[in-house]
Amino acid sequence: MAASDAREPLPQFPRGFLWGVSTSAHQIEGAVDERGPSVWDAFTAVPGRVKDGTTAAVACDHYHRYREDVALIRELGADAYRFSVSWPRVLPSGAGEVSSAGLDFYDRLVDELCAAGVSPVPTLFHWDTPLALAEEGGWLRRDTAGRFAEYAAVVAGRIGDRAKKWITLNEPAEHTLLGHALGQHAPGEQLMFGALPAAHHQLLAHGLAVRALRAAGVTDIGIANSHGPTWPASASPEDTQAADFYDVLLNRLFADPLILGRYPDLIAELMAGEGDIEADLSVIAEPVDWYGINFYQPTKVGAPLPATTAPTEFSGLTLPPELPFSVREIEGRPVTDFGWPVVPESLTELLTGFRDRYGDRLPPLVITENGCSYDGLDDQRRIDYLDGHVRAVHRALARGVDVRGYFVWSLMDNFEWAEGYRQRFGLVHVDRTTLTRTPKASYAWLREALRAQRT
Ligand code: NOJ
Repeated sequence: MAASDAREPLPQFPRGFLWGVSTSAHQIEGAVDERGPSVWDAFTAVPGRVKDGTTAAVACDHYHRYREDVALIRELGADAYRFSVSWPRVLPSGAGEVSSAGLDFYDRLVDELCAAGVSPVPTLFHWDTPLALAEEGGWLRRDTAGRFAEYAAVVAGRIGDRAKKWITLNEPAEHTLLGHALGQHAPGEQLMFGALPAAHHQLLAHGLAVRALRAAGVTDIGIANSHGPTWPASASPEDTQAADFYDVLLNRLFADPLILGRYPDLIAELMAGEGDIEADLSVIAEPVDWYGINFYQPTKVGAPLPATTAPTEFSGLTLPPELPFSVREIEGRPVTDFGWPVVPESLTELLTGFRDRYGDRLPPLVITENGCSYDGLDDQRRIDYLDGHVRAVHRALARGVDVRGYFVWSLMDNFEWAEGYRQRFGLVHVDRTTLTRTPKASYAWLREALRAQRT
């Protein structure tokens, strides 16, 4: 008997709870010659940037195969599909001239989804900044926030009649940390704390885009941020202080300004001299209708290790020795192919922690990403992961946290950024030579689980 046959049925979620799957443009679309260049095209052209030497030039060729992919979402029985719109496909130079072919693609995709009974949930920015804007300073430049709001208005003008639920940005924390502080993602900047303006300008872009979307008649807006509990390596003051610092960088740097309209003290100090931050904060805290959380794992953090003089490798991340904290291994837990520890109950901890920290100010939550990297078609470990995390969301609901939806990352195997194609997060396998889609065991499990939610 397969392990999944022995599982208890999932608990029943409230009616109207939104079940979805997610992807992003750069990771699946391909068709790079049919759009303007993005910062990721330039980054992956440099040898050594992507661990398996690949690029997203073809990716899953979703641009040409979207009908087949929508059919897979329909057969899965998902309510909603979270995809991202490629900014350089819509505005090849980032601003100015709109590509009608680019907009037509999203128009067709949205029509196809609606015909399949699947709600389209567009994300406006999932890291693929138009190269022309990146070359002028990208997110380090304040102007980019304004350009982003103009782009938001263009997309809403075209698909806002059928797409009801919108996401402005995906994971500004990762884009700041990996792209601008550590240089492991595009644009490859290694600015360390000098990357903070990129965080601020993304947050400002979010607030301006919320206003632009509202002006275009959109009424259901959120943002997708990555969050995870931070566990101090010990109760020592050095370790708790280091863990607190990490928690500020990963969690509070983004959630506090969005939800409370202020930066954590530490960040406010580091940003002094960046202009009129107070005025910007009122834009950043523009009310949203819900708050999206991408969750993968908790992180154990301690004081810097004194003997460390070389960078440390951790879960695919290379951390320089000069950071004021060190990331430690969480022992006694299974890990994914990425080396990420599997700790489902930490998702309940995260969600109840958000409710406790933000109280009445907290908008309803949606899990905008959750998933894991495992190889193989009979992916029982992915089923275990998803089963455990869905139950963890239910436990948070039972404790009174208002969670409205859950999106699996990802519909299909795709271009996993600096890892290339070697980390497979899909419910559907994509053959790298033929691009044939084959649903995995986890796809069949989720289809049955969703069916059971509706009976
Ligand atoms: C979060 C990112 O939004 C997504 O692009 C990525 O593939 C997953 N995490 C897995 O690393």
